[in-house]
Amino acid sequence: MNNLPTQAAAAGARGATGAEWWRNAVIYQVYPRSFADSDGDGIGDLPGITARIPYLARLGIDAVWLSPFYRSPQADAGYDVADYRAVDPLFGTLEDFDRLLRQAHAAGLRVIVDLVPNHTSDEHAWFQAAAGSRPGSPERARYVFRDGRGKDGEQPPNNWKSVFGGSAWSRVPGDRQWYLHLFDRKQPDLDWEHPEVRAELEAVLRFWLDRGVDGFRVDVAHGLIKAPGLPDWERQAAMVGGDEADGVNHGPMWDQDGVHEIYRGWRRILDQYPGQRMMVAEAWVRPQSRLARYVRAGEMQQAFNFDYLLAPWDAAALRRVIENSLAAMEAVGAPATWVMSNHDTVRHASRLGLRRPGARPMGIDAAGEQPDEVLGLRRARAAVLLTLALPGSAYLYQGEELGLPEHTTMAAHHRQDPAFHRTGGEEIGRDGSRVPLPWQASTPSLGFGPGARTWLPQPDSFARYAVDQQDGVPGSTLELYREALRLRRTYELGQGRLRWQEAEPNVVVFDNEGVRVAVNLGPREAALPAGEVLVSSQPLDTPGRLPGNAAVWTVLDRVSKK
Ligand code: GLC
Repeated sequence: MNNLPTQAAAAGARGATGAEWWRNAVIYQVYPRSFADSDGDGIGDLPGITARIPYLARLGIDAVWLSPFYRSPQADAGYDVADYRAVDPLFGTLEDFDRLLRQAHAAGLRVIVDLVPNHTSDEHAWFQAAAGSRPGSPERARYVFRDGRGKDGEQPPNNWKSVFGGSAWSRVPGDRQWYLHLFDRKQPDLDWEHPEVRAELEAVLRFWLDRGVDGFRVDVAHGLIKAPGLPDWERQAAMVGGDEADGVNHGPMWDQDGVHEIYRGWRRILDQYPGQRMMVAEAWVRPQSRLARYVRAGEMQQAFNFDYLLAPWDAAALRRVIENSLAAMEAVGAPATWVMSNHDTVRHASRLGLRRPGARPMGIDAAGEQPDEVLGLRRARAAVLLTLALPGSAYLYQGEELGLPEHTTMAAHHRQDPAFHRTGGEEIGRDGSRVPLPWQASTPSLGFGPGARTWLPQPDSFARYAVDQQDGVPGSTLELYREALRLRRTYELGQGRLRWQEAEPNVVVFDNEGVRVAVNLGPREAALPAGEVLVSSQPLDTPGRLPGNAAVWTVLDRVSKK
């Protein structure tokens, strides 16, 4: 099929340098359950997304990343895939997907989809066959089945813990064997040493490439290969923030050298297709030099920069992360990426309003510290002017363009994240960042769907942030994003080079393509850079001064073509 429409090809060619489109793309994460609901069941769906393509195109992004919409029992919100080639009826049909893709391409937007290769659902045909087969059978060989320890195999094969809490092993009822699941018990890990597993996922890649997708976000890209012999590991296996004080995931389940050969194979497949198809790694790997191995020549094109997401609100720390990221990626010829929020982390408008804005809470509930909403939003608005001014590619998470906060008081009975349930509520989990978007302030589901239902409750504050409250309103966060995205494109900041400038304490200042960027991370005013103001995150009321927790882009020469 290879049906890459000419409009998307044109969008790709828009980058003035003629470089690959993904090198400087702004990619917007759509979390389908929570974006827009077309049928009123309270869960977002593909037709809901299609109906909002004009909104996405107007925002000024280059591409959309869709979190999983495949057939799934939804034990981990779709990251538990039962059929990699089917759309779950919750989200629509394959025809709905094709229509979404066609319309996105027609609007000049690329589309990348999520690929979940580390594990399947336990309701995948392969696992069903494995569970019904005897130990040592070929059906079991595609997963990580092992005999239990102890006299009757009543102890798990090793001491690994699930990222979501509890043991990483579950026993097959009436059987001496256990199967590995780094995540929920309904997410059995595949055995990536098995050639059939490799061949099947390659076929899945081709299935979506043939339909015309522009690339893949690769889930748990650092987890596919486990250390030989599955040695014991005392620590809690973790993704966000790492399982060690140094923020590193050292365990025998992470970042094994063998993963790279898999990605080199995938890259060869992508390169057989026209139109610059790409992959981005979700790899919670440190330091940046280890992360860079995922984006070496012949591997993936991008990796999420979680060091940036996790950085504290501090000029020196941010500058260090930016320098390290640019250097590490440049060394392998890959673009740096910048990301502040996603469906696994507390929304940054809330994170930045905590007493310790570098903290990494795994969810917030009513019993926890409540973020300062005003300060958090103020910092989030400054932060996006930093993010969008950096060379490379930027990822936005749906709703951040509205300044949406985390739902920090959601009652336990609403929570669905398996991490919440597997830890007995000790880990609050990720539901607070996954709340359905507010589109219209005055309707029961805030415009999310035709009815009143939303799969997670929306906090009262969401009405204030609704799209219709911000659309066309000068100074709104939505208009700030639109303006910054427009200027980023005009001044080609994604393709530029960063040059650091002298700055006052706790201020970051750099030049990129003739634009001077200043971010004041402290509470007190700082000097406003000279030149004409292009955009600022706060009103600039005092001449020559940049307020605290605010950012500005200025330019000395407004180039006429711009
Ligand atoms: C990734 C996803 C997360 C999911 C996990 C297991 O980290 O982003 O949402 O729970 O992988 O698939």
